[in-house]
Amino acid sequence: MYLLLGDCLRTLPTLPASSFDLVVTSPPYNLGIAYKSFKDTAPREEFLGWCRQWAAEVKRVMADDASFFLNVGAAPANPLLPHQLILALTDGANPLFTLQNTFHWVKSITIETRANEQISAGHFKPINSKRYVNDCHEYIFHLTKTGNVELDRRAAGVPYQDKSNIARWGHTGGADLRCRGNTWFIPYETINSRDKDRPHPATFPVALVEQCVRLHGKGPATRLLDPFLGIGSSAIAAHRQQIESFTGIELDPHYLETARERIAGETARVAEELAFGN
Ligand SMILES: C[S@@+](CC[C@H](N)C(=O)[O-])C[C@H]1O[C@@H](n2cnc3c(N)ncnc32)[C@H](O)[C@@H]1O
Repeated sequence: MYLLLGDCLRTLPTLPASSFDLVVTSPPYNLGIAYKSFKDTAPREEFLGWCRQWAAEVKRVMADDASFFLNVGAAPANPLLPHQLILALTDGANPLFTLQNTFHWVKSITIETRANEQISAGHFKPINSKRYVNDCHEYIFHLTKTGNVELDRRAAGVPYQDKSNIARWGHTGGADLRCRGNTWFIPYETINSRDKDRPHPATFPVALVEQCVRLHGKGPATRLLDPFLGIGSSAIAAHRQQIESFTGIELDPHYLETARERIAGETARVAEELAFGN
């Protein structure tokens, strides 16, 4: 596992071409988030130009059949960023990537069951507004070089609700597992203390990265990169998926140190579970 301190714009060019199967990352969103080192307040065109620069380097280090899962959120008063960013990477005279799939990371949802019961699950930051509703989702854009990368849909699948579909559809091969689709309900883990348990203003859940690993379908052999590592959620996902080849890059020494501590904590937790047979 390589955890590299530095600016990914400088570090990515030092990595060999075609050396990663999977990139899962969440860059700064240009929404004025208070990171320790990075100033998240650039003019939009400047920000989009910067994103094209690092994304071109990401493309260079990706194998031809690699997947790049790009997590981006918006803010109610600033709703266009995800769309502007995806256009900057996939549209125009020199598109860098093909947008192969678009996923919605649902952080919180209320559903009505068949028995007319209402179930609310997940967490979100409530906003106090008369014109905007609470923002309960983000995007995960699945970018590839060709638009034609094979995925292991059922590795990230779910059981059929109506079991008669297993026999009805030939493609099931008799297995009780269907493609999950592009709405992923992945709540943040419940924490007791923000400062202690999640000392970073914009993390994604470990489970989100695990889902991308499963869907890309290369298992423990995956060579995984996160050029905006933050406090290391993707590194912990790599560990949980038994991936040995992981590279993360982070600009801020504080966040990188926290990532190291979290990974050490995860390793110790797993060792303890094994020792006590849990
Ligand atoms: C949205 S956060 C990523 C959080 C991460 N997914 C997690 O769960 O901890 C973006 C991170 O990118 C870092 N960053 C900003 N500019 C960078 C650069 N040029 N190179 C590397 N990291 C950078 C910020 O310090 C911040 O921690």
